[in-house]
Amino acid sequence: MHVYFVRTNRIHIKDMANESKRNTSFTSKIGLIMAAAGSAVGLGNIWKFPYIAGENGGGAFLIVYLICVALFGLPLLMTEFFIGKRSGKSAFGAFRELSGNGRWQWLSWLCMLTAMLIMGFYFIVTGWCFNYLFEAFRNTFDGLGTEALAEHFAAVASNTPRMIGFSVLPVVLTAAVLWFDVNAGIERLSKILMPLLLLMMLLMAGRVLMLDGSNVGMRFFFQTDFSKITPRVIMEAMGQCFFSLSIGMGALITYGSYMPKNQNITATSIQVITLDTLVAVLAGVIIFPAVFAFGFDPAEGPQLVFVVLPAILEQMSFSWFSSVLFFTLLCIAALTSTISLMEVMVAFICEASAAVRKPKSGHPGRPLNRHQSVLLTSAMTIVLIVLCVLSMTGKTEWLTIMGHNLFDCFDEITSCVMMPLGALGMSVFVGWCLPNETLKGPARGTRRTKRWFGKIYLAVLRWVVPVAIMIIFLNSLGII
Ligand code: TRP
Repeated sequence: MHVYFVRTNRIHIKDMANESKRNTSFTSKIGLIMAAAGSAVGLGNIWKFPYIAGENGGGAFLIVYLICVALFGLPLLMTEFFIGKRSGKSAFGAFRELSGNGRWQWLSWLCMLTAMLIMGFYFIVTGWCFNYLFEAFRNTFDGLGTEALAEHFAAVASNTPRMIGFSVLPVVLTAAVLWFDVNAGIERLSKILMPLLLLMMLLMAGRVLMLDGSNVGMRFFFQTDFSKITPRVIMEAMGQCFFSLSIGMGALITYGSYMPKNQNITATSIQVITLDTLVAVLAGVIIFPAVFAFGFDPAEGPQLVFVVLPAILEQMSFSWFSSVLFFTLLCIAALTSTISLMEVMVAFICEASAAVRKPKSGHPGRPLNRHQSVLLTSAMTIVLIVLCVLSMTGKTEWLTIMGHNLFDCFDEITSCVMMPLGALGMSVFVGWCLPNETLKGPARGTRRTKRWFGKIYLAVLRWVVPVAIMIIFLNSLGII
């Protein structure tokens, strides 16, 4: 665990592995919002959202996704912030602190496991981004046509040593950020870079909409064909909502624990959700018109944006500069997410190792310090990445599960099973198991928030969220 020390407008992180209470918090409310938004906005918005939407019927998916964001996103984001703010701890200690017993400890293990599996594939996609940034510098995909771009991606993704190299690079960078405690610097940097990414995406959307045939893509993305809404689409939309907002795995509990006392949880959550959804929809507006204008297939799968984006960037003015700038910003957006992902595991290992008791004496063992924890996390992540890459490049039959490679399995199982399960656990925990005393908080904590909002929040958290998650689960399994 670490604590943010505040000096005027600077956040300094210090290693405090044994400290149990946060004594200070983020400098400014905007600092926390930017940090949480940095965690939320990432490849989930720009890579995953378009490819999942493309596979699940475009407009049909968009509408279900937006409903999921309103239904699950807001109450669950508020709940995670609340758990953190109230307990002052990150996932490992928070459940014990609030419930007063260890019965909910499994939830923190689930959070840690989810973070680990997500890192297994997230770093590979970040590796693709770094690979494309590198190639943008060398101008290698300039002038390639539609088919050549698809072949190019296939060649890149099946090159085992190259893929391992490019995926390990972001692990090293992320570990360095956590090791040297320069997270605060990165956050300040992303205050400038995030708006720049938005601006760049707006320019790209403008260019794409001028292409011939772009209206077909706009119709695909915005016109809802209700017959395409199947249980599968609903399941995917729910999973994507959790993934994109980083909920259901305790990452935001840590952020909540740094929240200043007077920060309004509801307002913060709404701001983060709005920004995240805006970026996802903007990514759709860029990708789909281009998909149809250039003759790609919207259901191309995980490679979709890596084939379409270079095609768009070729059409931009100053294409070399635009490509380099765009992929730089994309890599940084990915890194701000990997930092917070890895932090979940690093904090978990520090705190869990401090809680382990020596078998004979019953005394607490020596906790791992932050550096050891960063090393251990990186090593485990690299092992997972290597396994994932090997199973993707097809050289290892035994590394597949029911015909799917590990990359797809990790992607699917985290979004569609583990994060919904984590979210279900948290909603039941806060909605049903916390004493009424503790509950006086999430929405009623500040004067400005009206009482009725608190009531609605609690009703949604107690009934709507768990019931809806269960129904979607059972429905997709064909039981209902
Ligand atoms: N939300 C991130 C994105 O959209 C990915 C992510 C999922 C994540 N879970 C997380 C990031 C937990 C940080 C922490 O790219």
